Amino acid sequence: MAIKKVKPILCSYLPNNIISNEIISQMVDTSDEWIKSRTGIEERRICKDDYSLVDLGSNAALEAIKKGNIDPAEIDLIILATSTPDDLFGSAAKIQYRIKAFNAAAFDITAACSGFIIGIITASQFINTGIYKTVLVIGADVMSKFVDWQDRSTCILFGDGAGAAILKSTIKQHILGFQIKTNGELNSELTLSSKDLLQQNIAIQVFNRQYNFIQMNGKEIYKFAISKVPEAILNCLNTYQIQIEDIDWLLLHQANIRILKAIGEQLSIPQNKILNNLYKYGNTSAASIPIALDEAILENKIQDNDLIIMAGFGAGLTWGTVIIKWKDKLN
Ligand code: ACO
Repeated sequence: MAIKKVKPILCSYLPNNIISNEIISQMVDTSDEWIKSRTGIEERRICKDDYSLVDLGSNAALEAIKKGNIDPAEIDLIILATSTPDDLFGSAAKIQYRIKAFNAAAFDITAACSGFIIGIITASQFINTGIYKTVLVIGADVMSKFVDWQDRSTCILFGDGAGAAILKSTIKQHILGFQIKTNGELNSELTLSSKDLLQQNIAIQVFNRQYNFIQMNGKEIYKFAISKVPEAILNCLNTYQIQIEDIDWLLLHQANIRILKAIGEQLSIPQNKILNNLYKYGNTSAASIPIALDEAILENKIQDNDLIIMAGFGAGLTWGTVIIKWKDKLN
């Protein structure tokens, strides 16, 4: 069944602080050449000082509200996709207050690099049932705060950023289809996990939780991405009877240029149809897809009626696909 009546408005927000491969090479045993050739990344943005996830997410949301000329009071629901919240109880409520969307319900979802795609799919369900008319989906992560800056195998990859999409109920259909997949068996291949430490000097035995740095089996994640993502995209296209040749743009989670190219090759989608801004921002987790979409729209790459296939993949392991027909005007 095709999903109808959902129209997105996009905006993104990135910190100003640029960290080049050269700077990282002074911190760990690596080089610009190694990072570029293995990942395609040249630089990334990192939050300075106490700049928070809520700051990033709110700024992206406020830009989207301005661009869409939307009254924040119109927003019925805010979904914040993040794995790096300021507060484990959730950060969406704080964003709701910050952007003055006082009528909106707000909650977080955690699905790592698939978070924005799952957020869009969740939002479209609320709109499709007629419960809500305007939903704000934010994909935001501050990976720099959870990365071990002494681990060369992970610190080279990630950056901070946020992207926001406002989905509005409209007459024509814009989100044509979707699919979400999960394989918890491979959960330990990519984690931001915790350890519990026995608390000393109190009468009962209790444990306090502390978080580890990101840990990743890069090779396994690479193999997973290049096998499962094209398979899921083909299944999704098949379900909605859309041909691969009809796709104008492939927008994948910006993880690694080699992953983007390999998936494109497997799907026979030419490189010039694959959106890539990874060289500037690295892997911004839940933010990477909305940031790349926003940029492609601003650069006039994406035109009205273009068919875009978007796919997120990452920790969980989770992966998700959404097919969108882009329309610039609300109708
Ligand atoms: N600089 C120099 N050498 C390095 C670096 C570095 N930064 N990192 C690793 N190496 C070394 C290794 O130690 C290894 O040396 P050895 O052969 O002497 O043991 C060698 O380079 C090769 O290492 P590999 O891990 O095999 O390198 P690979 O080509 O697999 O690239 C990478 C690593 C970039 C991480 C790749 O596996 C990858 O991109 N994986 C996917 C990551 C991903 O997509 N994550 C997305 C999800 S993120 C999320 O959900 C939050």
